[in-house]
Amino acid sequence: MNEKIEALKQKITEYQVNNQDELEQYRLRFISRKSVIGDLFGEMKNVAAEERKAMGVRLNDLKNTAQSKFKELIASLEEQKNGQPEDVPDLTLPPVPDTLGAIHPLTQIQNRVVEIFERMGFNVAEGPEIENDWHNFTALNFPPNHPAREMQDTFFIEKNSDQGGQDVVLRTHTSSVQVRLMESQKPPVRAIMPGRVYRNEAISARAHCVFHQVEGLYVDRNVSFADLKQTLLHFAKELFGPESNIRLRPSFFPFTEPSAELDVWWGTKTEADRRVTKGTGWLEIGGCGMVDPNVLESCGIDSEEFTGFAFGMGFERIAMIKYQIKDLRLFTENDVRFLKQFTAFN
Ligand code: DAH
Repeated sequence: MNEKIEALKQKITEYQVNNQDELEQYRLRFISRKSVIGDLFGEMKNVAAEERKAMGVRLNDLKNTAQSKFKELIASLEEQKNGQPEDVPDLTLPPVPDTLGAIHPLTQIQNRVVEIFERMGFNVAEGPEIENDWHNFTALNFPPNHPAREMQDTFFIEKNSDQGGQDVVLRTHTSSVQVRLMESQKPPVRAIMPGRVYRNEAISARAHCVFHQVEGLYVDRNVSFADLKQTLLHFAKELFGPESNIRLRPSFFPFTEPSAELDVWWGTKTEADRRVTKGTGWLEIGGCGMVDPNVLESCGIDSEEFTGFAFGMGFERIAMIKYQIKDLRLFTENDVRFLKQFTAFN
């Protein structure tokens, strides 16, 4: 009987199954009541009394071996069914390419602009995109029905609204935030105000109905035009590199006096340089000037005591210059082939 037990143990240990039928055969042969092991238990009565105990231990051991093998076989069939065991990686699979997100070029420009001005002591402020006539026009010294309002093709949300009969508009520039800031804060005020603005323009490579600006405002005692120039020059060198330079051309805005257009130096080295700058080497990125005393007064600031400078720049314009992007529409189309190029943070 001992040999039989050993022989069965050997068989059980080596047993392999490939499908449910074979597993069932194993069960009938080694586990069921009519199994060979069951038969052996039947034969116990023929074993001499003094050997019976030791034999019983061996037989039980065989039974346990058969049962744990049964569990193993079930598990191994399960594994074959699932292809691979769960926690073992399949090293033969091709690698999944690691996709790294990109930061939108306009966000990159905004982050950089904020960083540069924060180091010069400017705070960041925000205002609403849906604005009333007062903040978008009147307080900024646009006279009623004045043609200056038509410089900025406005999207109207409501005419003569219940906000005191005022028009409600999508803000046409971030200059509206200047007014909100000066109304709520006493000088010194030193802040930049980035944000989205809207104009009723046909969409093309050079114009869009939604774009982004940053407004700058510094109001205090003795703020001069020289402060404005130096601030913008420092900004340009930080953003475009130490070789960069700026140029201010006399211009007109209702909310500044004197007013200027702000150009940055691009260069005329190549044919392309001359083309984008129309032969001048300069590119316009925004407007600026000394805050008109009327604007200060509209916001409750004494224009005898305080002066200020302001500027406004377009992020799209800056991004187009910095990354040599030729079509404004690319910024809003969400084409991954475009966006992917901005994966590197620069
Ligand atoms: N708001 C002007 C625009 O959208 C830009 C601008 C010009 C802002 C001169 C200013 C400024 O603060 O002083 O075209």
